[in-house]
Amino acid sequence: MKTSDLIKKFPEEKDLVTHSRPYFNHSIEFKNIFTPRERADMLDIAGLNMFFFPSEMITGCDLLSDSGTTSMTNEQWAALHLRDEAYGSNRGYFLVMKQIIETFGEEFFNDPNSGRPNAFIFHQGRPAEDALFTMVGRLGSGLIIPGNGHFDTTQANIKRNNMQAVNLFSPELMDESSGYHFKGDMDLIKFKSLLERSHNKIPLSYLTITNNTGGGQPVSMENIRDVSNVSNHYDIPLFFDACRFAENAWFIQQHEPGYGNKDIKTIVKEMFSYVDGFTISFKKDGLVNMGGGLFLKDNGLFMKKYPDIPDAIMGHQIDKEGHPTYGGLSGRDIMTLAVGLKIATKEEYLTYRINQVKDFGENLKNHGLPVMAPIGGHAVYLDMNKFFADTAIKPEDFGGVAFTAVLLAAYGHRTIELGNFSFGSYDKKTKKEILPEFNFVRFAIPRLRYEKKDLDSVAEAVKILYENRDKIPPVNVTYGRDLPMRHFKARFEFRKYSI
Ligand code: F0G
Repeated sequence: MKTSDLIKKFPEEKDLVTHSRPYFNHSIEFKNIFTPRERADMLDIAGLNMFFFPSEMITGCDLLSDSGTTSMTNEQWAALHLRDEAYGSNRGYFLVMKQIIETFGEEFFNDPNSGRPNAFIFHQGRPAEDALFTMVGRLGSGLIIPGNGHFDTTQANIKRNNMQAVNLFSPELMDESSGYHFKGDMDLIKFKSLLERSHNKIPLSYLTITNNTGGGQPVSMENIRDVSNVSNHYDIPLFFDACRFAENAWFIQQHEPGYGNKDIKTIVKEMFSYVDGFTISFKKDGLVNMGGGLFLKDNGLFMKKYPDIPDAIMGHQIDKEGHPTYGGLSGRDIMTLAVGLKIATKEEYLTYRINQVKDFGENLKNHGLPVMAPIGGHAVYLDMNKFFADTAIKPEDFGGVAFTAVLLAAYGHRTIELGNFSFGSYDKKTKKEILPEFNFVRFAIPRLRYEKKDLDSVAEAVKILYENRDKIPPVNVTYGRDLPMRHFKARFEFRKYSI
């Protein structure tokens, strides 16, 4: 009997409940051992600020960010050794060019000798945003950049150039009863009415895929298409903040009618066919530790409307980052990017990755925790207003900050508050806090780094904190309350608290 006939008598592999990961460990790193007391003392020194806590003292999971924290593959490590550190047009530059063309379309990377520069490599996402908005900000005064939810650095770069960043979050975003899968969408009604009123003040529109500020939620192809149509109707170019483009494409494949049979690469191409340019941090779906870029569509609306900007961007890039053929990256960084970008659209990788995030979120939900649903692509978001709803914690007590500090000190896991403190601000005149739309703590899951047991241990620790939430005290802000981007700089201490 042939073995292939024999195995037909057994349940099929695909029907099993558990599947092994689609990769092997390449190398591992042992953690240091620190006691909760040592972590707590260090945290007091760091002013309870997650960014200032030494990562070597993290004994649990470091879920501060999914940015630049990926474990690279053996092919990437091999590529790193094949690097060429030449000062211009190094080997990796041509490989990255080839891969950008393959992933996003040939209109996003012109031949460097064509005289039509449109592809600009930067060392991460924010300098690419800086270059774009420095040039766009010069087009006039009182300009507005509408988006589905600008990331904080994007918003900061818009403001720095005297423009207004407007967030048009989907009305579905905080609607718990909604089973809609694409809560990252732009609010199309508000977008249309803004353009009707102010289209001559809008140099470009922006869609962040997936919507990191809005719970890591994906944007549907339908919304991308509609936003593009409305924008183009008013002769306004559309851009992506494309950091998590591959994860967004996976959600479209899984949940949007008409896309179930299309592969990720085809879906990505269609997504990018609707935009005139994009900024990207390759530290996310580029699967690298460093890298970013700004890409303009050749013959797209942006290049047609603002023909002088590409050259101005190139000048800016040379002054700030380096020649366009390396753009602030070493030759070895560029080599790892050429390979990382290839892996990012692999279906088995994306399926495993996003389901890992989902399983972790479901685990928290099953423990009774108020997690944002559906669970997004790169992170799980815990609603701190609900978490502390039946306690004495008030919004300006920054319970989310206190939660992250207790979780790190007591159980060794690092997360980040993205809510009343990070996205809020202090009005010096009224001496009052201006609160944002959302109050989350985010658990960002680094790519290819943790196993189920790691995340199970985080879920258990969070459950314990929830059961003991009345023991989590408010925090006082001891430094930086009124600073811009204050969560990166501020210091806190626990308030004396009796219950
Ligand atoms: N846009 C989005 C949607 C982002 O999430 C980030 C970074 C950036 C732009 C900026 O890219 O860090 O390479 O300069 N997000 C990280 C995070 C830092 O933790 O969410 P960068």
